[in-house]
Amino acid sequence: MDFQVTRNALENVVCDALVVGAARSKKAQNSNGVVLPEMTKEVDTLLDGLISQICADGAFKGNLGEMTTVYTMEKLAAKRVLVVGLGSLEAMNAQILRRASAISARHLQNTGAHTIALALALEGTPIEVETGMQAQVEGALLGLYTFRKYQHTDDKGEERDITKIWLAAGKGNGAGLEEAIRRGSALAQATNFARDLVNEPPNVLTPTELANRASAMASQFGLECEILDRPQMEELGMGGLLGVSQGSAEPPKFIILRYRGAANSTHKGMALVGKGITFDTGGISLKPADRMDEMKGDMAGAAAVIGAMQAIASLKPLVNVTALVSTTENMPSGTAYHPGDILRIMNGKTIEIVNTDAEGRLVLADALSYAAKEGLSPIIDVATLTGAVVIALGNTMAGLFSNDAELSEEIVAAGKTAGEKFWPMPMDEEYGEQIKSDIADIKQTGGRAAGSVTAAKILENFVGDAKWAHLDIAGTSYVDSKKPYQEKGATGMAVRTLAELALHMEK
Ligand code: BES
Ligand code: MN
Ligand code: ZN
Repeated sequence: MDFQVTRNALENVVCDALVVGAARSKKAQNSNGVVLPEMTKEVDTLLDGLISQICADGAFKGNLGEMTTVYTMEKLAAKRVLVVGLGSLEAMNAQILRRASAISARHLQNTGAHTIALALALEGTPIEVETGMQAQVEGALLGLYTFRKYQHTDDKGEERDITKIWLAAGKGNGAGLEEAIRRGSALAQATNFARDLVNEPPNVLTPTELANRASAMASQFGLECEILDRPQMEELGMGGLLGVSQGSAEPPKFIILRYRGAANSTHKGMALVGKGITFDTGGISLKPADRMDEMKGDMAGAAAVIGAMQAIASLKPLVNVTALVSTTENMPSGTAYHPGDILRIMNGKTIEIVNTDAEGRLVLADALSYAAKEGLSPIIDVATLTGAVVIALGNTMAGLFSNDAELSEEIVAAGKTAGEKFWPMPMDEEYGEQIKSDIADIKQTGGRAAGSVTAAKILENFVGDAKWAHLDIAGTSYVDSKKPYQEKGATGMAVRTLAELALHMEK
């Protein structure tokens, strides 16, 4: 995508569609409560008050995502103007601009528009010009994302595509606009890369293919990459990853990506750990058939950390970051691990298996042990770990579990910047009672009660002294219906939050 800032008067911006915003406010006495920001007023004047007229008639109310199109009949260089609702002016934030931009770009995608201009920035709100610009860039790229590579289409792809986006600078001086575009693009492209990995079917995206794609990204973006195979896992004692993988015909992989932004620092840096189950059948404790296809997305945690590494490699914060991904299928077969098995994890602790469908915590246990052994801190793991977190928080918020209050707050804040929501969950000692085993150090599952919490309590056993947080994205990594701002399927959840966190740690 070609993004370019324009400081031209809106009248002279040559494009197929010019997008302007309109908000709602209780303070707006006339126009049915709709307020037009400066740039929208400028366009309204050029159109002889047409937008005001539409609002006054009540045909457009300014609710978030509402849209109305008017043709300019050569009163402007733009062929048409798309007015998009921004919702309440008082509630305005960067995430709303991101959404409005995504909705507009997505809407314009198949309407014959190739060059569009975004003029959504608002004066008089606490959003900085640069932040607003970055949000519009991110929103457009996230909104335009599609995954159609396996579908035949009659129309030629290029004719449907938006290839150029002008960004109206407005009156703000905005010294860092180019930097804002660079950041927004890097974050959105990394998110879309993660979405591609999740959307790929499981016959294509095997553990080997996931490792290959991580490795190709690493060479393109200048990261170190190391892929461990079964013999090395055996040497390291990765009994969790090896146990889960033994039922599958596909070999497991352990992916290590290293970014050294502070090579001379004595601090080893942060670890990002991902669950990479490329297909979760449940194993011998087989899942029901209904919606099992969605279990191709059980590597969304892995995709999030690999995507975050791409963003970090583009944005180059002065910190060290290591990504560790355990990847395998979870399959039933004559060689599969059984309920009743006892597995020994890399740090020496043993786990009594009760349900082979609780495989995520086993493969993560080895990766967390690896991170702790390397002395990495903080350690942040990302996983589609439990159905229980979906029951608790739905598809809106991811569960956040941590042994460190400050780290937890930093993640919530980074998520706010990134437009991703994390909800802190309890980690009280009492929950540990549910995962006591009679014959091993730990029991693999704690029953139905507080299922996402007991899963996190298991992970806590493998992080040593490190500061650690676990993000359960089972409910937020995948949407089963399309939204005005988003394609059905993978969301790329946690990519931007992890990248923001790395940028924040630099300070
Ligand atoms: N991958 C699933 C969790 C999941 C559920 C992800 C729904 C996305 C959507 C995980 O491996 C799993 O099967 N967890 C079990 C654990 C249970 C057996 C203790 C679950 O949540 O039911
Ligand atoms: Mn499972
Ligand atoms: Zn799983």
